[in-house]
Amino acid sequence: MKFTLPTGDPGFSTAGTVSAPDEPVRATAAHRQRWAVDTMAVAPDDQVLEIGCGRGAAVSLVASRLTTGRIVAIDRAATMVRLATERNLSHINAGRAEIRCAGFEAADLPAHRFTKIFAVNVSLFWLGDATQPIDQMRSLLAPGGRIYVFGERPTAAHATANLTATELLLEARGFTTARSSAIRGQGQVLTCVSGTPIG
Ligand SMILES: C[S@@+](CC[C@H](N)C(=O)[O-])C[C@H]1O[C@@H](n2cnc3c(N)ncnc32)[C@H](O)[C@@H]1O
Repeated sequence: MKFTLPTGDPGFSTAGTVSAPDEPVRATAAHRQRWAVDTMAVAPDDQVLEIGCGRGAAVSLVASRLTTGRIVAIDRAATMVRLATERNLSHINAGRAEIRCAGFEAADLPAHRFTKIFAVNVSLFWLGDATQPIDQMRSLLAPGGRIYVFGERPTAAHATANLTATELLLEARGFTTARSSAIRGQGQVLTCVSGTPIG
């Protein structure tokens, strides 16, 4: 059912390694990750950046949709990067995915490259001052690109509050926003605020 409600070790990259098949992708991804990738409608030629990829389930889903496109995923936790790398070896070897151990704030990423930048359940947006990371995301977007902030909240009230706070954050930094959400079951609500830069 879908409805509308109002520090790691920089520089480690997995590009170019070899061996072992990926896990069955959709079977092992969580509902929130499947919903996120469906919501973004990833196209075969998209250039995607994921911030805080965790174990790499969304990386697998995105990479499975790419042909000429590519996903770069970063996480500041070395353990998560190792797990995400193991999970996505065939995509990495095929050149569709790159996984780096880096905190977003210090990550060395190409300007104006990405058509879609997303994060699922990453506190970056909600703890502390998110001004610098949001401006950084804007500088990484290709013309026409969009950022997507996904969350998972325990109740509709929490979801609405989170959606509103995220919209205000992005709008204050010069984005136009759109929101969507979905019931996950057991009262959980999945949320998304997407934003495109104005001007
Ligand atoms: C709650 S987990 C979510 C992981 C995954 N997105 C998911 O939905 O399962 C948050 C992840 O974001 C990473 N993270 C948090 N802040 C980050 C930052 N500033 N830069 C890079 N990674 C970050 C953490 O290391 C962690 O792996």
